[in-house]
Amino acid sequence: MTPTKTARRRPLAAAALALLAFAGALACGGDGGADADTEEGKRLFNANCASCHGLEAAGTDNGPPLVHLYYAPGHHNDDAIRRAVRNGVTQHHWFFGDMPPAPNVSDDEIEQIIRYVRETQRANGIE
Ligand code: HEC
Repeated sequence: MTPTKTARRRPLAAAALALLAFAGALACGGDGGADADTEEGKRLFNANCASCHGLEAAGTDNGPPLVHLYYAPGHHNDDAIRRAVRNGVTQHHWFFGDMPPAPNVSDDEIEQIIRYVRETQRANGIE
C-alpha cells in the first residue's frame, strides 16, 4: 500500500540527510580545522590518545569519542582532561574499561592536546 511505503521511506531519507550533514561537518572539521596552533596538539593526540580515542577524537573499540556531548567544556572542563591524563580514569560513562594515566605526556603537551581536542569539538559543533 502506498501510504505505508511513504511512511517507511521518510525516516530513512531523514537518516540519510543527517548522515550526509555529519560527513560534511567531519570533512570541514578534519585537517582544515587544525591550524598551526593546534598542529602540534594533533600530533601529540595522535601519538598518545588516538589508539583509544581515535583519529579526530572520533572513538575506537578501545575508548570513547571525545567529540561527544559528554565531553563538551560545560560537562568536562579542561581540568577534567588534565586529571584524566595525569591520574587516569576509572570506567564510569562507558564499558571500555579504565583509562591508564599517561605519565610520559608533559604538562605543556597536555595543554596543546587540550587546544586540539577543543578545536576538534568546536569544528564538530560541540561547544
Ligand atoms: C588505553 C586507552 C586510552 C588511552 C591511550 C587514552 N584514553 Fe582517555 N579514556 C579511555 C577510556 C576507556 C575512557 C572512558 C572511561 C569511562 O568514562 O568509562 C577515557 C576517558 C577520557 C576522558 C574523560 C574523563 C572523565 O572525567 O570522564 C578524557 C578527558 C580523556 N579520556 C582524555 C584522554 C587523553 C587526552 C588521552 C591522551 C593523552 C587519553 N585519554 C588516552 C581510554 C584511553
